[in-house]
Amino acid sequence: MNYHNKLLGAALAAVTALASFGPSALQAAEKLTLYCSPQIEWCQLMVEEFKKATGIDVAMTRKSSGETFAQIKAESRNPKGDVWWGGTGDPHLQAAEEGLTEKYMSPMLPKLHDWAQRQGSDSGNRTVGIYAGALGFGYNKDLLAKNNLPTPKCWKDLLNPAFKGHVQMANPNSSGTAYTTLATIVQIFGEDEGFEFMKGLHKNINQYTKSGSAPIKAAARGETTIGIVFQHDIVTQVVKGFPIEVVSPCEGTGYEIGSMSIIKGARNADSAKKFYDFALDPKIQTMAKQARAYQVPSNASANPPPEAPDLKDIKLIDYDFKKYGSSAERRRLLAKWDKEVKSLPR
Ligand code: G6P
Repeated sequence: MNYHNKLLGAALAAVTALASFGPSALQAAEKLTLYCSPQIEWCQLMVEEFKKATGIDVAMTRKSSGETFAQIKAESRNPKGDVWWGGTGDPHLQAAEEGLTEKYMSPMLPKLHDWAQRQGSDSGNRTVGIYAGALGFGYNKDLLAKNNLPTPKCWKDLLNPAFKGHVQMANPNSSGTAYTTLATIVQIFGEDEGFEFMKGLHKNINQYTKSGSAPIKAAARGETTIGIVFQHDIVTQVVKGFPIEVVSPCEGTGYEIGSMSIIKGARNADSAKKFYDFALDPKIQTMAKQARAYQVPSNASANPPPEAPDLKDIKLIDYDFKKYGSSAERRRLLAKWDKEVKSLPR
């Protein structure tokens, strides 16, 4: 074989190799920018599985629900993200109302539980439910005993002055978990009494964290006695072997419909739809437990993890998502909390 033939042979081989890669070589060029609000381990699992299934490269950042809402709003003239996956539903509803997210009706929609579909119908199909979970609080048994503290069973128990410096929750501006807490307390006690409750609680708070689940991770490390978080986030620490106990408050409690939205003006709109359909698939939702995520999945055929708190056993309030996910109400409550609660001395 002379030099030219050799060269021709090599070129042909390269073309054949490329052709045999076919669609996947093309797909490798596709990408997706994902804004992710649940726990980072679950975000990472979703990225890996989506890449495995489609070959699409994902650039992911994890930020809390309120922070992500603020970022999408700030970027709305020049959107950088494609999909916002997870986080509490209220700010997703607010984003829908403010026209920050795109209407999309996935073919998977009819396969979802009613509560997940309702999130879609309430928003003109600009968001959808991907999981649900109830709010509560958890405590570190060892620290409770060491400090001779009574066992808290109700929201009102958290106002006991004995708990001064022992309670941690997130800031409701950045965290969807903490906004759910504020809206839950207002719905259980009414607005006036609810705000008195938040002021009383403030005296016992040692720190307002940015992320919603941080307080129970801190309780697991022995840095706070009590953390107000979603019950499934408490279960994660129990499963890891920490001396943590889950409390479903006696007065009843609120819950979240973790949601997903496509960002308006998404640069990678096709990849965004692919990810959206993928995230509603029962096989993918069933994988959540591999990341120790114990929310209740929205696809009726997905298997809830056995560790997931059973919502039927929890005294749930009839959380008004329409009201507390509306732009005016969420803004009003947060401003009021900043002014009347956060600014008080502790
Ligand atoms: C945790 C929970 C999720 C929830 C999220 C909200 O990750 O497991 O169910 O949606 O918190 O996060 P944020 O930091 O906004 O409170």
